[in-house]
Amino acid sequence: MSDTTPDTVRRPLISGNWKMNLNHFEALKLVQELSYEVTRDDVDAVDVSVHPPFTDIRTVQTALESDRIPFHLGAQHCHAEPSGAFTGEVAAPMLAKLGVRYVIVGHSERREVFGETDDLVNAKVKAILKNEMVPILCVGETLDEREAGEAEAKVKAQLKAGLSRVKAEQVATMVVAYEPIWAIGTGKTASADDAQAMCQTVRSSLEATHGEDAAASARVQYGGSVKPINAAELMGQPDIDGALVGGASLEAETFAKIIQYRLHD
Ligand code: 13P
Repeated sequence: MSDTTPDTVRRPLISGNWKMNLNHFEALKLVQELSYEVTRDDVDAVDVSVHPPFTDIRTVQTALESDRIPFHLGAQHCHAEPSGAFTGEVAAPMLAKLGVRYVIVGHSERREVFGETDDLVNAKVKAILKNEMVPILCVGETLDEREAGEAEAKVKAQLKAGLSRVKAEQVATMVVAYEPIWAIGTGKTASADDAQAMCQTVRSSLEATHGEDAAASARVQYGGSVKPINAAELMGQPDIDGALVGGASLEAETFAKIIQYRLHD
């Protein structure tokens, strides 16, 4: 291998997006149950992040630290500004102070329900990076867009806009989650071949905008009805480096099986 060959070893990242579920007591219970199910060997092989609602983050942080539970703390979104008159919002520096490592940004539910635009997503990506956390940038098409043959163009446009003026070295540290909107919470998963094809498109798009090294180092997750039964096949694809899991991350035994996908092949 020449010195210029990019390092393509990407540690898988399995993330649980709890969405607007679980109060802080329930969150504590889930994270403790999960810590009994998941062994040190499991986390030697994969990174795990949990993304509770804001009201649970401090509780989960304390549990992870005091019990030395080797999961990364995550958040589901943040505001782009560091502080100010934005009633109800939470700023990236506040999350960083809580030990949050991964922040989901541009989730389709935020884009569709709360009207987040690509420009806003881009500003949030920059705020997260500025605070030394890792953005998990979500992209994905609707069923109509897929059926119209527009899925690739949609995903490429979301990536280009979401990563505008983000440095290549920063993109190299990032996570992109490909989540086809029609597969979220529906029980319909993209086939492993379709998921791989789009995750490869994500990587080649990153290469076109930010260069070979950034594309080779950034991790690409698949999300949308990931379950223990389909996790191994999805994770076995060359351009899929992890999973962003919604419903199946709310139950310790089920989420643990996804984390242990290699055992359930
Ligand atoms: P489900 O796993 O419930 O389909 O949700 C996927 C998702 O939106 C994760 O961010």
